[in-house]
Amino acid sequence: MASYDVIVIGAGPGGYVAAIRCAQLGLKTACVEGRDTLGGTCLNVGCIPSKALLHASHMLHEAEHNFAKMGLKGKSPSVDWPGMLAYKDDVIGQNTKGVEFLFKKNKIDWLKGWGSIPEAGKVKVGDEVHEAKNIIIASGSEAASLPGVEVDEKIVVTSTGALELPKVPKKLVVIGAGVIGLELGSVYARLGSEVTVIEYLDAVTPGMDAEVQKTVQRMLKKQGMSFIMGAAVQKTEATKTKAKVHYKLRKDDSEHVLDADVVLVATGRKPYTDGLGLEALGVEMSQRGQIKTDDHWQTNVKGIYAIGDAIDGPMLAHKAEDEGMAAAEVIAGKAGHVNYGVIPGVIYTHPEVATVGKTEDQLKEEGRAYKVGKFSFMGNGRAKAVFAGDGFVKLLADKDTDRILGCHIIGPGAGDLIHEVCVAMEFGASAEDLAMTCHAHPTYSEAVREAALACGDGAIHS
Ligand code: NAI
Repeated sequence: MASYDVIVIGAGPGGYVAAIRCAQLGLKTACVEGRDTLGGTCLNVGCIPSKALLHASHMLHEAEHNFAKMGLKGKSPSVDWPGMLAYKDDVIGQNTKGVEFLFKKNKIDWLKGWGSIPEAGKVKVGDEVHEAKNIIIASGSEAASLPGVEVDEKIVVTSTGALELPKVPKKLVVIGAGVIGLELGSVYARLGSEVTVIEYLDAVTPGMDAEVQKTVQRMLKKQGMSFIMGAAVQKTEATKTKAKVHYKLRKDDSEHVLDADVVLVATGRKPYTDGLGLEALGVEMSQRGQIKTDDHWQTNVKGIYAIGDAIDGPMLAHKAEDEGMAAAEVIAGKAGHVNYGVIPGVIYTHPEVATVGKTEDQLKEEGRAYKVGKFSFMGNGRAKAVFAGDGFVKLLADKDTDRILGCHIIGPGAGDLIHEVCVAMEFGASAEDLAMTCHAHPTYSEAVREAALACGDGAIHS
């Protein structure tokens, strides 16, 4: 039995970052992880592997559609699927080993196995019970189940199975037009699958700016993806090689069936807290199975904290990381801070979609007076040079004070561009502040500045 200042349960982005920050702040720290490698869902079966496949399939798309336009001739590359999976696995390995290195560097003990909390101040891993003055639960989330749909991770898969299919399916049906559905759906569409997305709502990417929703759907349709909107999937029937997906259209209750070689279920995730022993401890949970915490990420049981997907808020790796750092700081007697109003969201389709702050619909609901500065990438020289003129930056600012309230981007490098707006919002900047900042030419960032100019006297290139 060992004794620690902090034991973190879970080594995903929330947990491993919390552990590193605890160690940096001088706390004796251990992290419990039952997987064979560190990094949690994000590094092993989520963000990182999907980005490898998105990159590889995008390169193929460029070769097939844009090389000839640039005067590049020759045989187009073809898909070596095992080779692509090996590349993805190599990327995973580099990242998970990186976290292991950081643990060693920061003298964090990796307690291998699945942890539980037999009582406050104690963490059990295997047969061993360790003492911990503080415990941070960072146990993450798992794919939510859908009634009538039985996942076998072969024919009917979650994102985990979709990252290691034995071959590229001829027909892929995706249930849910959220982040996972669009990212992985676009990977397979680019690799040659016939992809149909079935979505319950009338718009893709729930919660995003309505103009962005329409534009991303239009662009993905152009790339060959099909959408059945306003349709509730009722059940799937799978054999060893195929599946049938039954759905009902909401507008007229008519019932339909689609054939698929593979079905990807991407209808959301739920907190994963199984086996931690929270009920016996009396840790308060929400109706949705999330661990309840106070403003300092502490549960109702003193000394037990929780962060990331296991608690309320967007299920995003970077939100978990911020909470992990903040909880560590609170435990070390410092302030700990997360600005929930400035958490960006990115969808890594091509083009990328990025968003931060309020949407126009939210501002309307709040009855707030706002102005819109919009700029199309068609007016951005750099974007046009790389066939990425489709898309826009939309900046929302307070009508009276000019303070930036939100930004929604669809276009090249959107996931990186959004951060200058995040920084501006952190500093309470106005659209004019962004507009007065010199932006290098030719860069995609100029489109952000032009959107800011459009909030004032007008953009130059539109
Ligand atoms: P999601 O919540 O983003 O989207 C689920 C979609 O499924 C919704 O549009 C919903 O209306 C639809 N749906 C639900 N039941 C349905 C039914 N019976 N029939 C048809 N459609 C139905 O969930 P998703 O994509 O599974 O992602 C899970 C979590 O992982 C999200 O919180 C997401 O933010 C996170 N994530 C983030 C990524 C990123 O930041 N790039 C990448 C991947 C996941």
